[in-house]
Amino acid sequence: MPINFQGRSFLTLQDYTPEEITYLIDLSAKFKSLKHTRTPHKYLEGKNIVLLFEKTSTRTRCSFEVAGMDLGMGVTYLDPGSSQMGHKESIEDTAKVLGRFYDGIEYRGFDQKLVEKLAKYSGVPVWNGLTDASHPTQMLADMLTVRENFGYLKGLKFVFMGDCRNNVSNSLMITCAKLGLNYVGCGPKDLWPEKDLIAKAKEYAKYYNSTVEFTEDPEKAAKGAHAIYTDIWVSMGEPHEIYQKRISELHKYKVTQKLMDLADPEAIFLHCLPSFHDLETSTGREINEEFGDQYDLNGMEVTDEVFLGKQSRVFDEAENRMHTIKAVMFATLK
Ligand code: CP
Ligand code: NVA
Repeated sequence: MPINFQGRSFLTLQDYTPEEITYLIDLSAKFKSLKHTRTPHKYLEGKNIVLLFEKTSTRTRCSFEVAGMDLGMGVTYLDPGSSQMGHKESIEDTAKVLGRFYDGIEYRGFDQKLVEKLAKYSGVPVWNGLTDASHPTQMLADMLTVRENFGYLKGLKFVFMGDCRNNVSNSLMITCAKLGLNYVGCGPKDLWPEKDLIAKAKEYAKYYNSTVEFTEDPEKAAKGAHAIYTDIWVSMGEPHEIYQKRISELHKYKVTQKLMDLADPEAIFLHCLPSFHDLETSTGREINEEFGDQYDLNGMEVTDEVFLGKQSRVFDEAENRMHTIKAVMFATLK
């Protein structure tokens, strides 16, 4: 089947075939090269996009802004404090209005249903910039980063350590299964994804010749891994009170050099960021003050040593957010 993205939304990786995902990764690599050689690429001049953020962001917001401007587009940023969205105007009405002004809409928020509603009612491509359930644009950056390091994706052992049922890990499981990477989710059982989602991932894995497994044993998971990935233990929108439970459940899944040493000699460390790898953030210090007498929290989900070490690719990964988001916007708007 020919690949055609025009007018499509990018809401979840479940809507895209492996060929389409690979096409977007290839296109991202081309845009990265254009950017690095300072070759102008204002291919979407005259178009306008709007970015709706109901949660905070550094990478996703800046990626959409810079990518939009590099492509020659006008970019508007809106947060709930500076628009009527959600509190004074329904998502449906907001979508209908914005669809008349803009050629594309980015949305970061809570419920996956809201981003789907925006896509349904706006009549223009909608890009999911993270919901409680998924983080699809992050996946393209992650896979581009892995491919840059190994030259291929199929057959690699990809391990996620920690909260295996958050937006990032849910999306990684699906993406790995579709692209032929062998996914291992490692964390306590009560933080594994919903049964239906695991079943879906296993269905993809069977079809695309990969595997999806879960374990509570971090050493078993790390053994022979090509990529070890982690994320913060408490995601945006979750209550502060959950920290105590999460720390007690997840501290043994912290990515340490000892774990990295069990992995493949060429293994890389990945993290979507932001990360609590030291005490240089106010939240990190607050949590350390509350629970630091019971646990080593000078580095929560990953030690500073690994985060800054030679196997870490976290800043390449962050840069790749911009190139991959540019590819998604270009493919769906051109
Ligand atoms: N990885 C990521 O989505 O980062 P931001 O929350 O800063 O956008
Ligand atoms: N799981 C994290 C990802 C941040 C990019 C969160 O939702 O806060």
